[in-house]
Amino acid sequence: MSTTPEQEAVEAALVERVVGSFDACADRRLQQLMVGLTRHLHAFIREVRLTEEEWGAAIDFLTRAGHITDDVRQEFILLSDTLGASMQTINVNNAAYEGATEATVFGPFFVEDAPDVELGGDVSFGAPGEPCWVEGSVTDTDGTALPGAVLEVWEADEDGLYDVQRDAGSRAARGRLVADDQGRFRFWGLTPTPYPIPDDGPVGQMLTATGRSPMRAAHLHFMVSHPGTRTLVTHIFPGGDPIGDKDSVFGVKESLVRSFEQQPAGAPTPDGRVVDGTWSRARFDIVLAPAGV
Ligand code: BEZ
Ligand code: FE
Repeated sequence: MSTTPEQEAVEAALVERVVGSFDACADRRLQQLMVGLTRHLHAFIREVRLTEEEWGAAIDFLTRAGHITDDVRQEFILLSDTLGASMQTINVNNAAYEGATEATVFGPFFVEDAPDVELGGDVSFGAPGEPCWVEGSVTDTDGTALPGAVLEVWEADEDGLYDVQRDAGSRAARGRLVADDQGRFRFWGLTPTPYPIPDDGPVGQMLTATGRSPMRAAHLHFMVSHPGTRTLVTHIFPGGDPIGDKDSVFGVKESLVRSFEQQPAGAPTPDGRVVDGTWSRARFDIVLAPAGV
């Protein structure tokens, strides 16, 4: 829709008045954020010629997002995730560095008090799913092993549910491990399965209205830390997942796709454990960037 020069002038003048209202802001960074937000927000409104009904619908959407948000459910982060804003913030803040493992979205299902698990132990704690042996190493970008690196791992079970979705106090399919003196780790978990993000609120309605799926590509979460390195929040994704390029939160990166090789029932396991049925195995060698890069 074209606008007259007079109309252009009215709209442009308002942008400058709002921008100018931040002139006296003593915090220069806050001023930069507010000026940038103002310019982009007004550019959006002017570009799409936002109607008053659409403005009202947006306010109603945000109000409903606020109402459904509590200590456990965070609809605004879900909105950020599904708009790719979370992944873009991760990209900006985790610059590629000399082969360091790439970061991806954190998600709402991490808990601080995951059980400690010995190397080679089972983090599933009885959660349903196909057993999966996961092993790998943690090094810095020079290839030096990082003994004592702390690995937090968490995942959904075969029904697509995290422990905290079944019962807020339960702890299963998650654990905290410490890498050995050569920076190696190993544990039994579950073969990851795809699952939907919480879609019973306004974000789910936005996905439905726009013809999008709430499904996340199957994945296993990791948070890996070691003194002197940048803490890594990431996942690994089984190769061949048809949801891979349609992940609802845009979290899949090619470098994080791993082969989860399914083993036949009766195949000998790495630690001699007797598994009833099929199992899978995956390897993940983790490279941590130095802190502060
Ligand atoms: C998750 O992977 O756990 C997740 C990430 C973003 C939104 C919802 C769930
Ligand atoms: Fe997840």
